[in-house]
Amino acid sequence: MIETIKTDLRHLLKNDLNIENVVLEMPKRGDSDLAIPLFGYQKTLGKKLNEIYELFSNVLIKSDYIDRVEFIAGFLNIYIKRAPFSKRVLDKIHKEKSNFGSRNDNNETIVIDYSSPNIAKSFSVGHLRSTVIGNSLKLIYKKLGYNVVGVNHLGDWGTQFGSMIVAYKKWGNKELIQSNPIDELQRLYVRFHEEAEKDPSLSQEARDAFLKLEQNDPEYIELWTYFKNESLKEFKEMYDLLDVTFDSYNGEAFYNDKMDDVVKELEEKNLLVEDQGAMVVRISEDQPPVLIKRSDGATLYTTRDLAALFYRLKTYDFKKVIYVVGNEQKLHFDNLKKVTQLMGYDFDIEHVNFGLVLQDGKKMSTRKGKTTKLNYVLNEAVLKAKSAIEEKNPSLDDKDNVAKVIGIGAIIFNDLKNDRTLDIEFNLDNMLKFEGQTGPYLLYSIVRIFSILKQGELDFNEVDYKIYNDSNYFGIIKTLDQFPNIVQKAANESSPSVIAKYLLGLSQEFNGFYAKVKINDSNDVLRNTNLLLIESILNVLIEGLRLLGMKHLEAM
Ligand code: ARG
Repeated sequence: MIETIKTDLRHLLKNDLNIENVVLEMPKRGDSDLAIPLFGYQKTLGKKLNEIYELFSNVLIKSDYIDRVEFIAGFLNIYIKRAPFSKRVLDKIHKEKSNFGSRNDNNETIVIDYSSPNIAKSFSVGHLRSTVIGNSLKLIYKKLGYNVVGVNHLGDWGTQFGSMIVAYKKWGNKELIQSNPIDELQRLYVRFHEEAEKDPSLSQEARDAFLKLEQNDPEYIELWTYFKNESLKEFKEMYDLLDVTFDSYNGEAFYNDKMDDVVKELEEKNLLVEDQGAMVVRISEDQPPVLIKRSDGATLYTTRDLAALFYRLKTYDFKKVIYVVGNEQKLHFDNLKKVTQLMGYDFDIEHVNFGLVLQDGKKMSTRKGKTTKLNYVLNEAVLKAKSAIEEKNPSLDDKDNVAKVIGIGAIIFNDLKNDRTLDIEFNLDNMLKFEGQTGPYLLYSIVRIFSILKQGELDFNEVDYKIYNDSNYFGIIKTLDQFPNIVQKAANESSPSVIAKYLLGLSQEFNGFYAKVKINDSNDVLRNTNLLLIESILNVLIEGLRLLGMKHLEAM
């Protein structure tokens, strides 16, 4: 709504005074709703500040939205008509509910490549970040009307699978592996590297094994398939807990037979050159070349990503591809972009990077054994939430589900509440607190609103919009009005934290309101006016949490 008002005011100034692109700020101080800094016009108009003020205000006051204007310290402060503004905003939310802020005018396709763990290895905290951020971006873009394709580009191909097969055949214990596949395979892989340091012939064996795998040797394919299926079982447990889904699980192996075309195209465009037996693309004088094919003919991560890009273009006709991958792969994605530019394409490729996960200030690792394995960590969050409920509200229905929503929500919110490029601290006790900047705090605000709404049912015809003139109400209504902009901004910056921070602010405003105003007042009109406001807050909080990939509760 405020955007509509801004457009209206700019129109008036353009039509009447021929002044374009006037800055309309949200004032940080005072209680006006918009402010125009006038200093900049002194020179261009050759007038004094108060004269400019007179000139502008005579025009602005013609707008139906404006109540009055004021001249304060070089600024033209604008006060909008609060009651009609409030009516428009709250009626819209009441009518549109979860669709408030949704758009349907974007219909291009966006491919989001996220999570993408490596098979036969445990799911890392980095992959958890990618999963949570990517899933939220998917939901945000969908809300804005885009057609979104979520791809899990599994790391399921490469020479490491040659090493894995060699190690499995030499030292693998079938029973041990079957009882705990990923940990055992990871142990074998570590052992392979230790042994290969002593005996270099092992590395050659691994390369040969990978070559056999690439040539579809049935025994090797069977082993690789087993590794992959076991890994997927474990990954899917995580995805179920997090309620994350993908439209495609086409990983690196899928592109095994789709790389020739890219290599051929690179050749035809004279971009492929030989370098010590390998085939590379040189992108500039001062940068190392990009490796496309190794001297033994094996292809690489970058080659597979190039093939994936062209496959996605052909299959989905994307407008943009987003890769949600840690900072350490910046060079890889820069290279991917540069190679396609040299090929003559202008793809919109965005590397959405993110910071590390820290525990007590140090890089967190889930590699060192069972207790720190990620699904154990997620389950621990759920258990801790459960014991908090047992303590606070032992008679609650469906405690297991409540614990899951709180525990998993706490982890998701802890990840998304800060700008993604920052490192995050992973401390279960802190993220599960019911106060402060936490998921449980938001969930609790929602539950509080549900319980108030259960006591007094809203009668929409009994609302008096003039009551919203009071600043206790109007500040919140302006915040609610911002929600569609916030969703758009989160997409523009590829940062779900924009929404997370907004939701914290809105919850704080609600809790402040709750402390000051008796919501279920005995006066019918006053009560219904209050209820319409909190119902709107509820709708926006729930929809905002959904966009982060979180669920909500009606009681906890
Ligand atoms: N599997 C890779 C890793 O764990 C991430 C893959 C990201 N996606 C891509 N298309 N390269 O490091």
